[in-house]
Amino acid sequence: MRHIKIKTLIVTIFTLGAIILMSGTTSFSNDLFTANCGEVSAETSETSLTKPLLTAKLTKTGLKLSWTKVENADEYKIYRSNKKNGKYKKIAEVTSDTLSFSDKDYKGERKTYYYRIKSVTKFGKGINHIYSNTIKKTVYKRKSKVHGVTYINGILIANKTYKLPKTYNPGTNSKAYKAFKKMQSAAYKDGLNLFIASGYRSYSYQKYLYNSYKARDGKEKADTYSARAGHSEHQTGLAFDINDPSSSFDNTKEAKWLAKNCTKYGFIIRYQKSKEKITGYKYESWHIRYLGKSLAKKVTKSGKCLEEYLGITSKYKQR
Ligand code: DAL
Ligand code: ZN
Repeated sequence: MRHIKIKTLIVTIFTLGAIILMSGTTSFSNDLFTANCGEVSAETSETSLTKPLLTAKLTKTGLKLSWTKVENADEYKIYRSNKKNGKYKKIAEVTSDTLSFSDKDYKGERKTYYYRIKSVTKFGKGINHIYSNTIKKTVYKRKSKVHGVTYINGILIANKTYKLPKTYNPGTNSKAYKAFKKMQSAAYKDGLNLFIASGYRSYSYQKYLYNSYKARDGKEKADTYSARAGHSEHQTGLAFDINDPSSSFDNTKEAKWLAKNCTKYGFIIRYQKSKEKITGYKYESWHIRYLGKSLAKKVTKSGKCLEEYLGITSKYKQR
């Protein structure tokens, strides 16, 4: 009995001692806790952090990089390289609540870059970091010329400012034509007949057309509805006039259907009402331009004409 009592006494003294020691050394315990926390996290950084997922999208203001949030990150560093396994140069640093960055620095006409980001978390003197996946993207110079044809952010442009060479004769663009055929079938199911009244036009044919209109209506008027040679979208093979290229098409069922549905197939109504001063042409309810589904949707959604969307002009150098 006595033996047990002594044992209990010893245990009690130890327990009390431990409690007194813990409560009496609060600052010491806290310091120790903080130090440990930093160290432990630093050691386990690569496994405990979730890798940020990096994606990129070409926008009119540059190549927009976006990534998923990393818990407790303090900042993200953005790296770029010319080669997949080459040297990655840091191009920017952003704070933890920024989850995107636009690379506006285009070099060369067309260039492929590799991107990755690093999330950085600071713990006392320790640093945690984790890299994202690496992505490959071809970026375009804002304005580039390929064989005399102008591209703005990779989009082929023909208007009053940007002229096509005489020698540019691509014929009907096959993607645009396939998209038209799909749209035609859809319209047919809705009981409507769509057909191409005028598609690809060569430089010399456009010259003949414009000159005929000029002879009939005078230069000033002709310039409001017909493009001078080298300035017509029809020479790109990406534009089609549907059914009836005249204002009598405007309020037809077909025109309404076209305006409502062409975007789904990758087209835009190129010369909109109320945008005459910007596009340089009168409203053409029948003229559609192929941009591909994704861009056509963005342009239509913006409510802007292509010139406004890309921030470009449409004006002849000579009156
Ligand atoms: N009617 C359009 C503007 C053209 O001639 O290309
Ligand atoms: Zn047209």
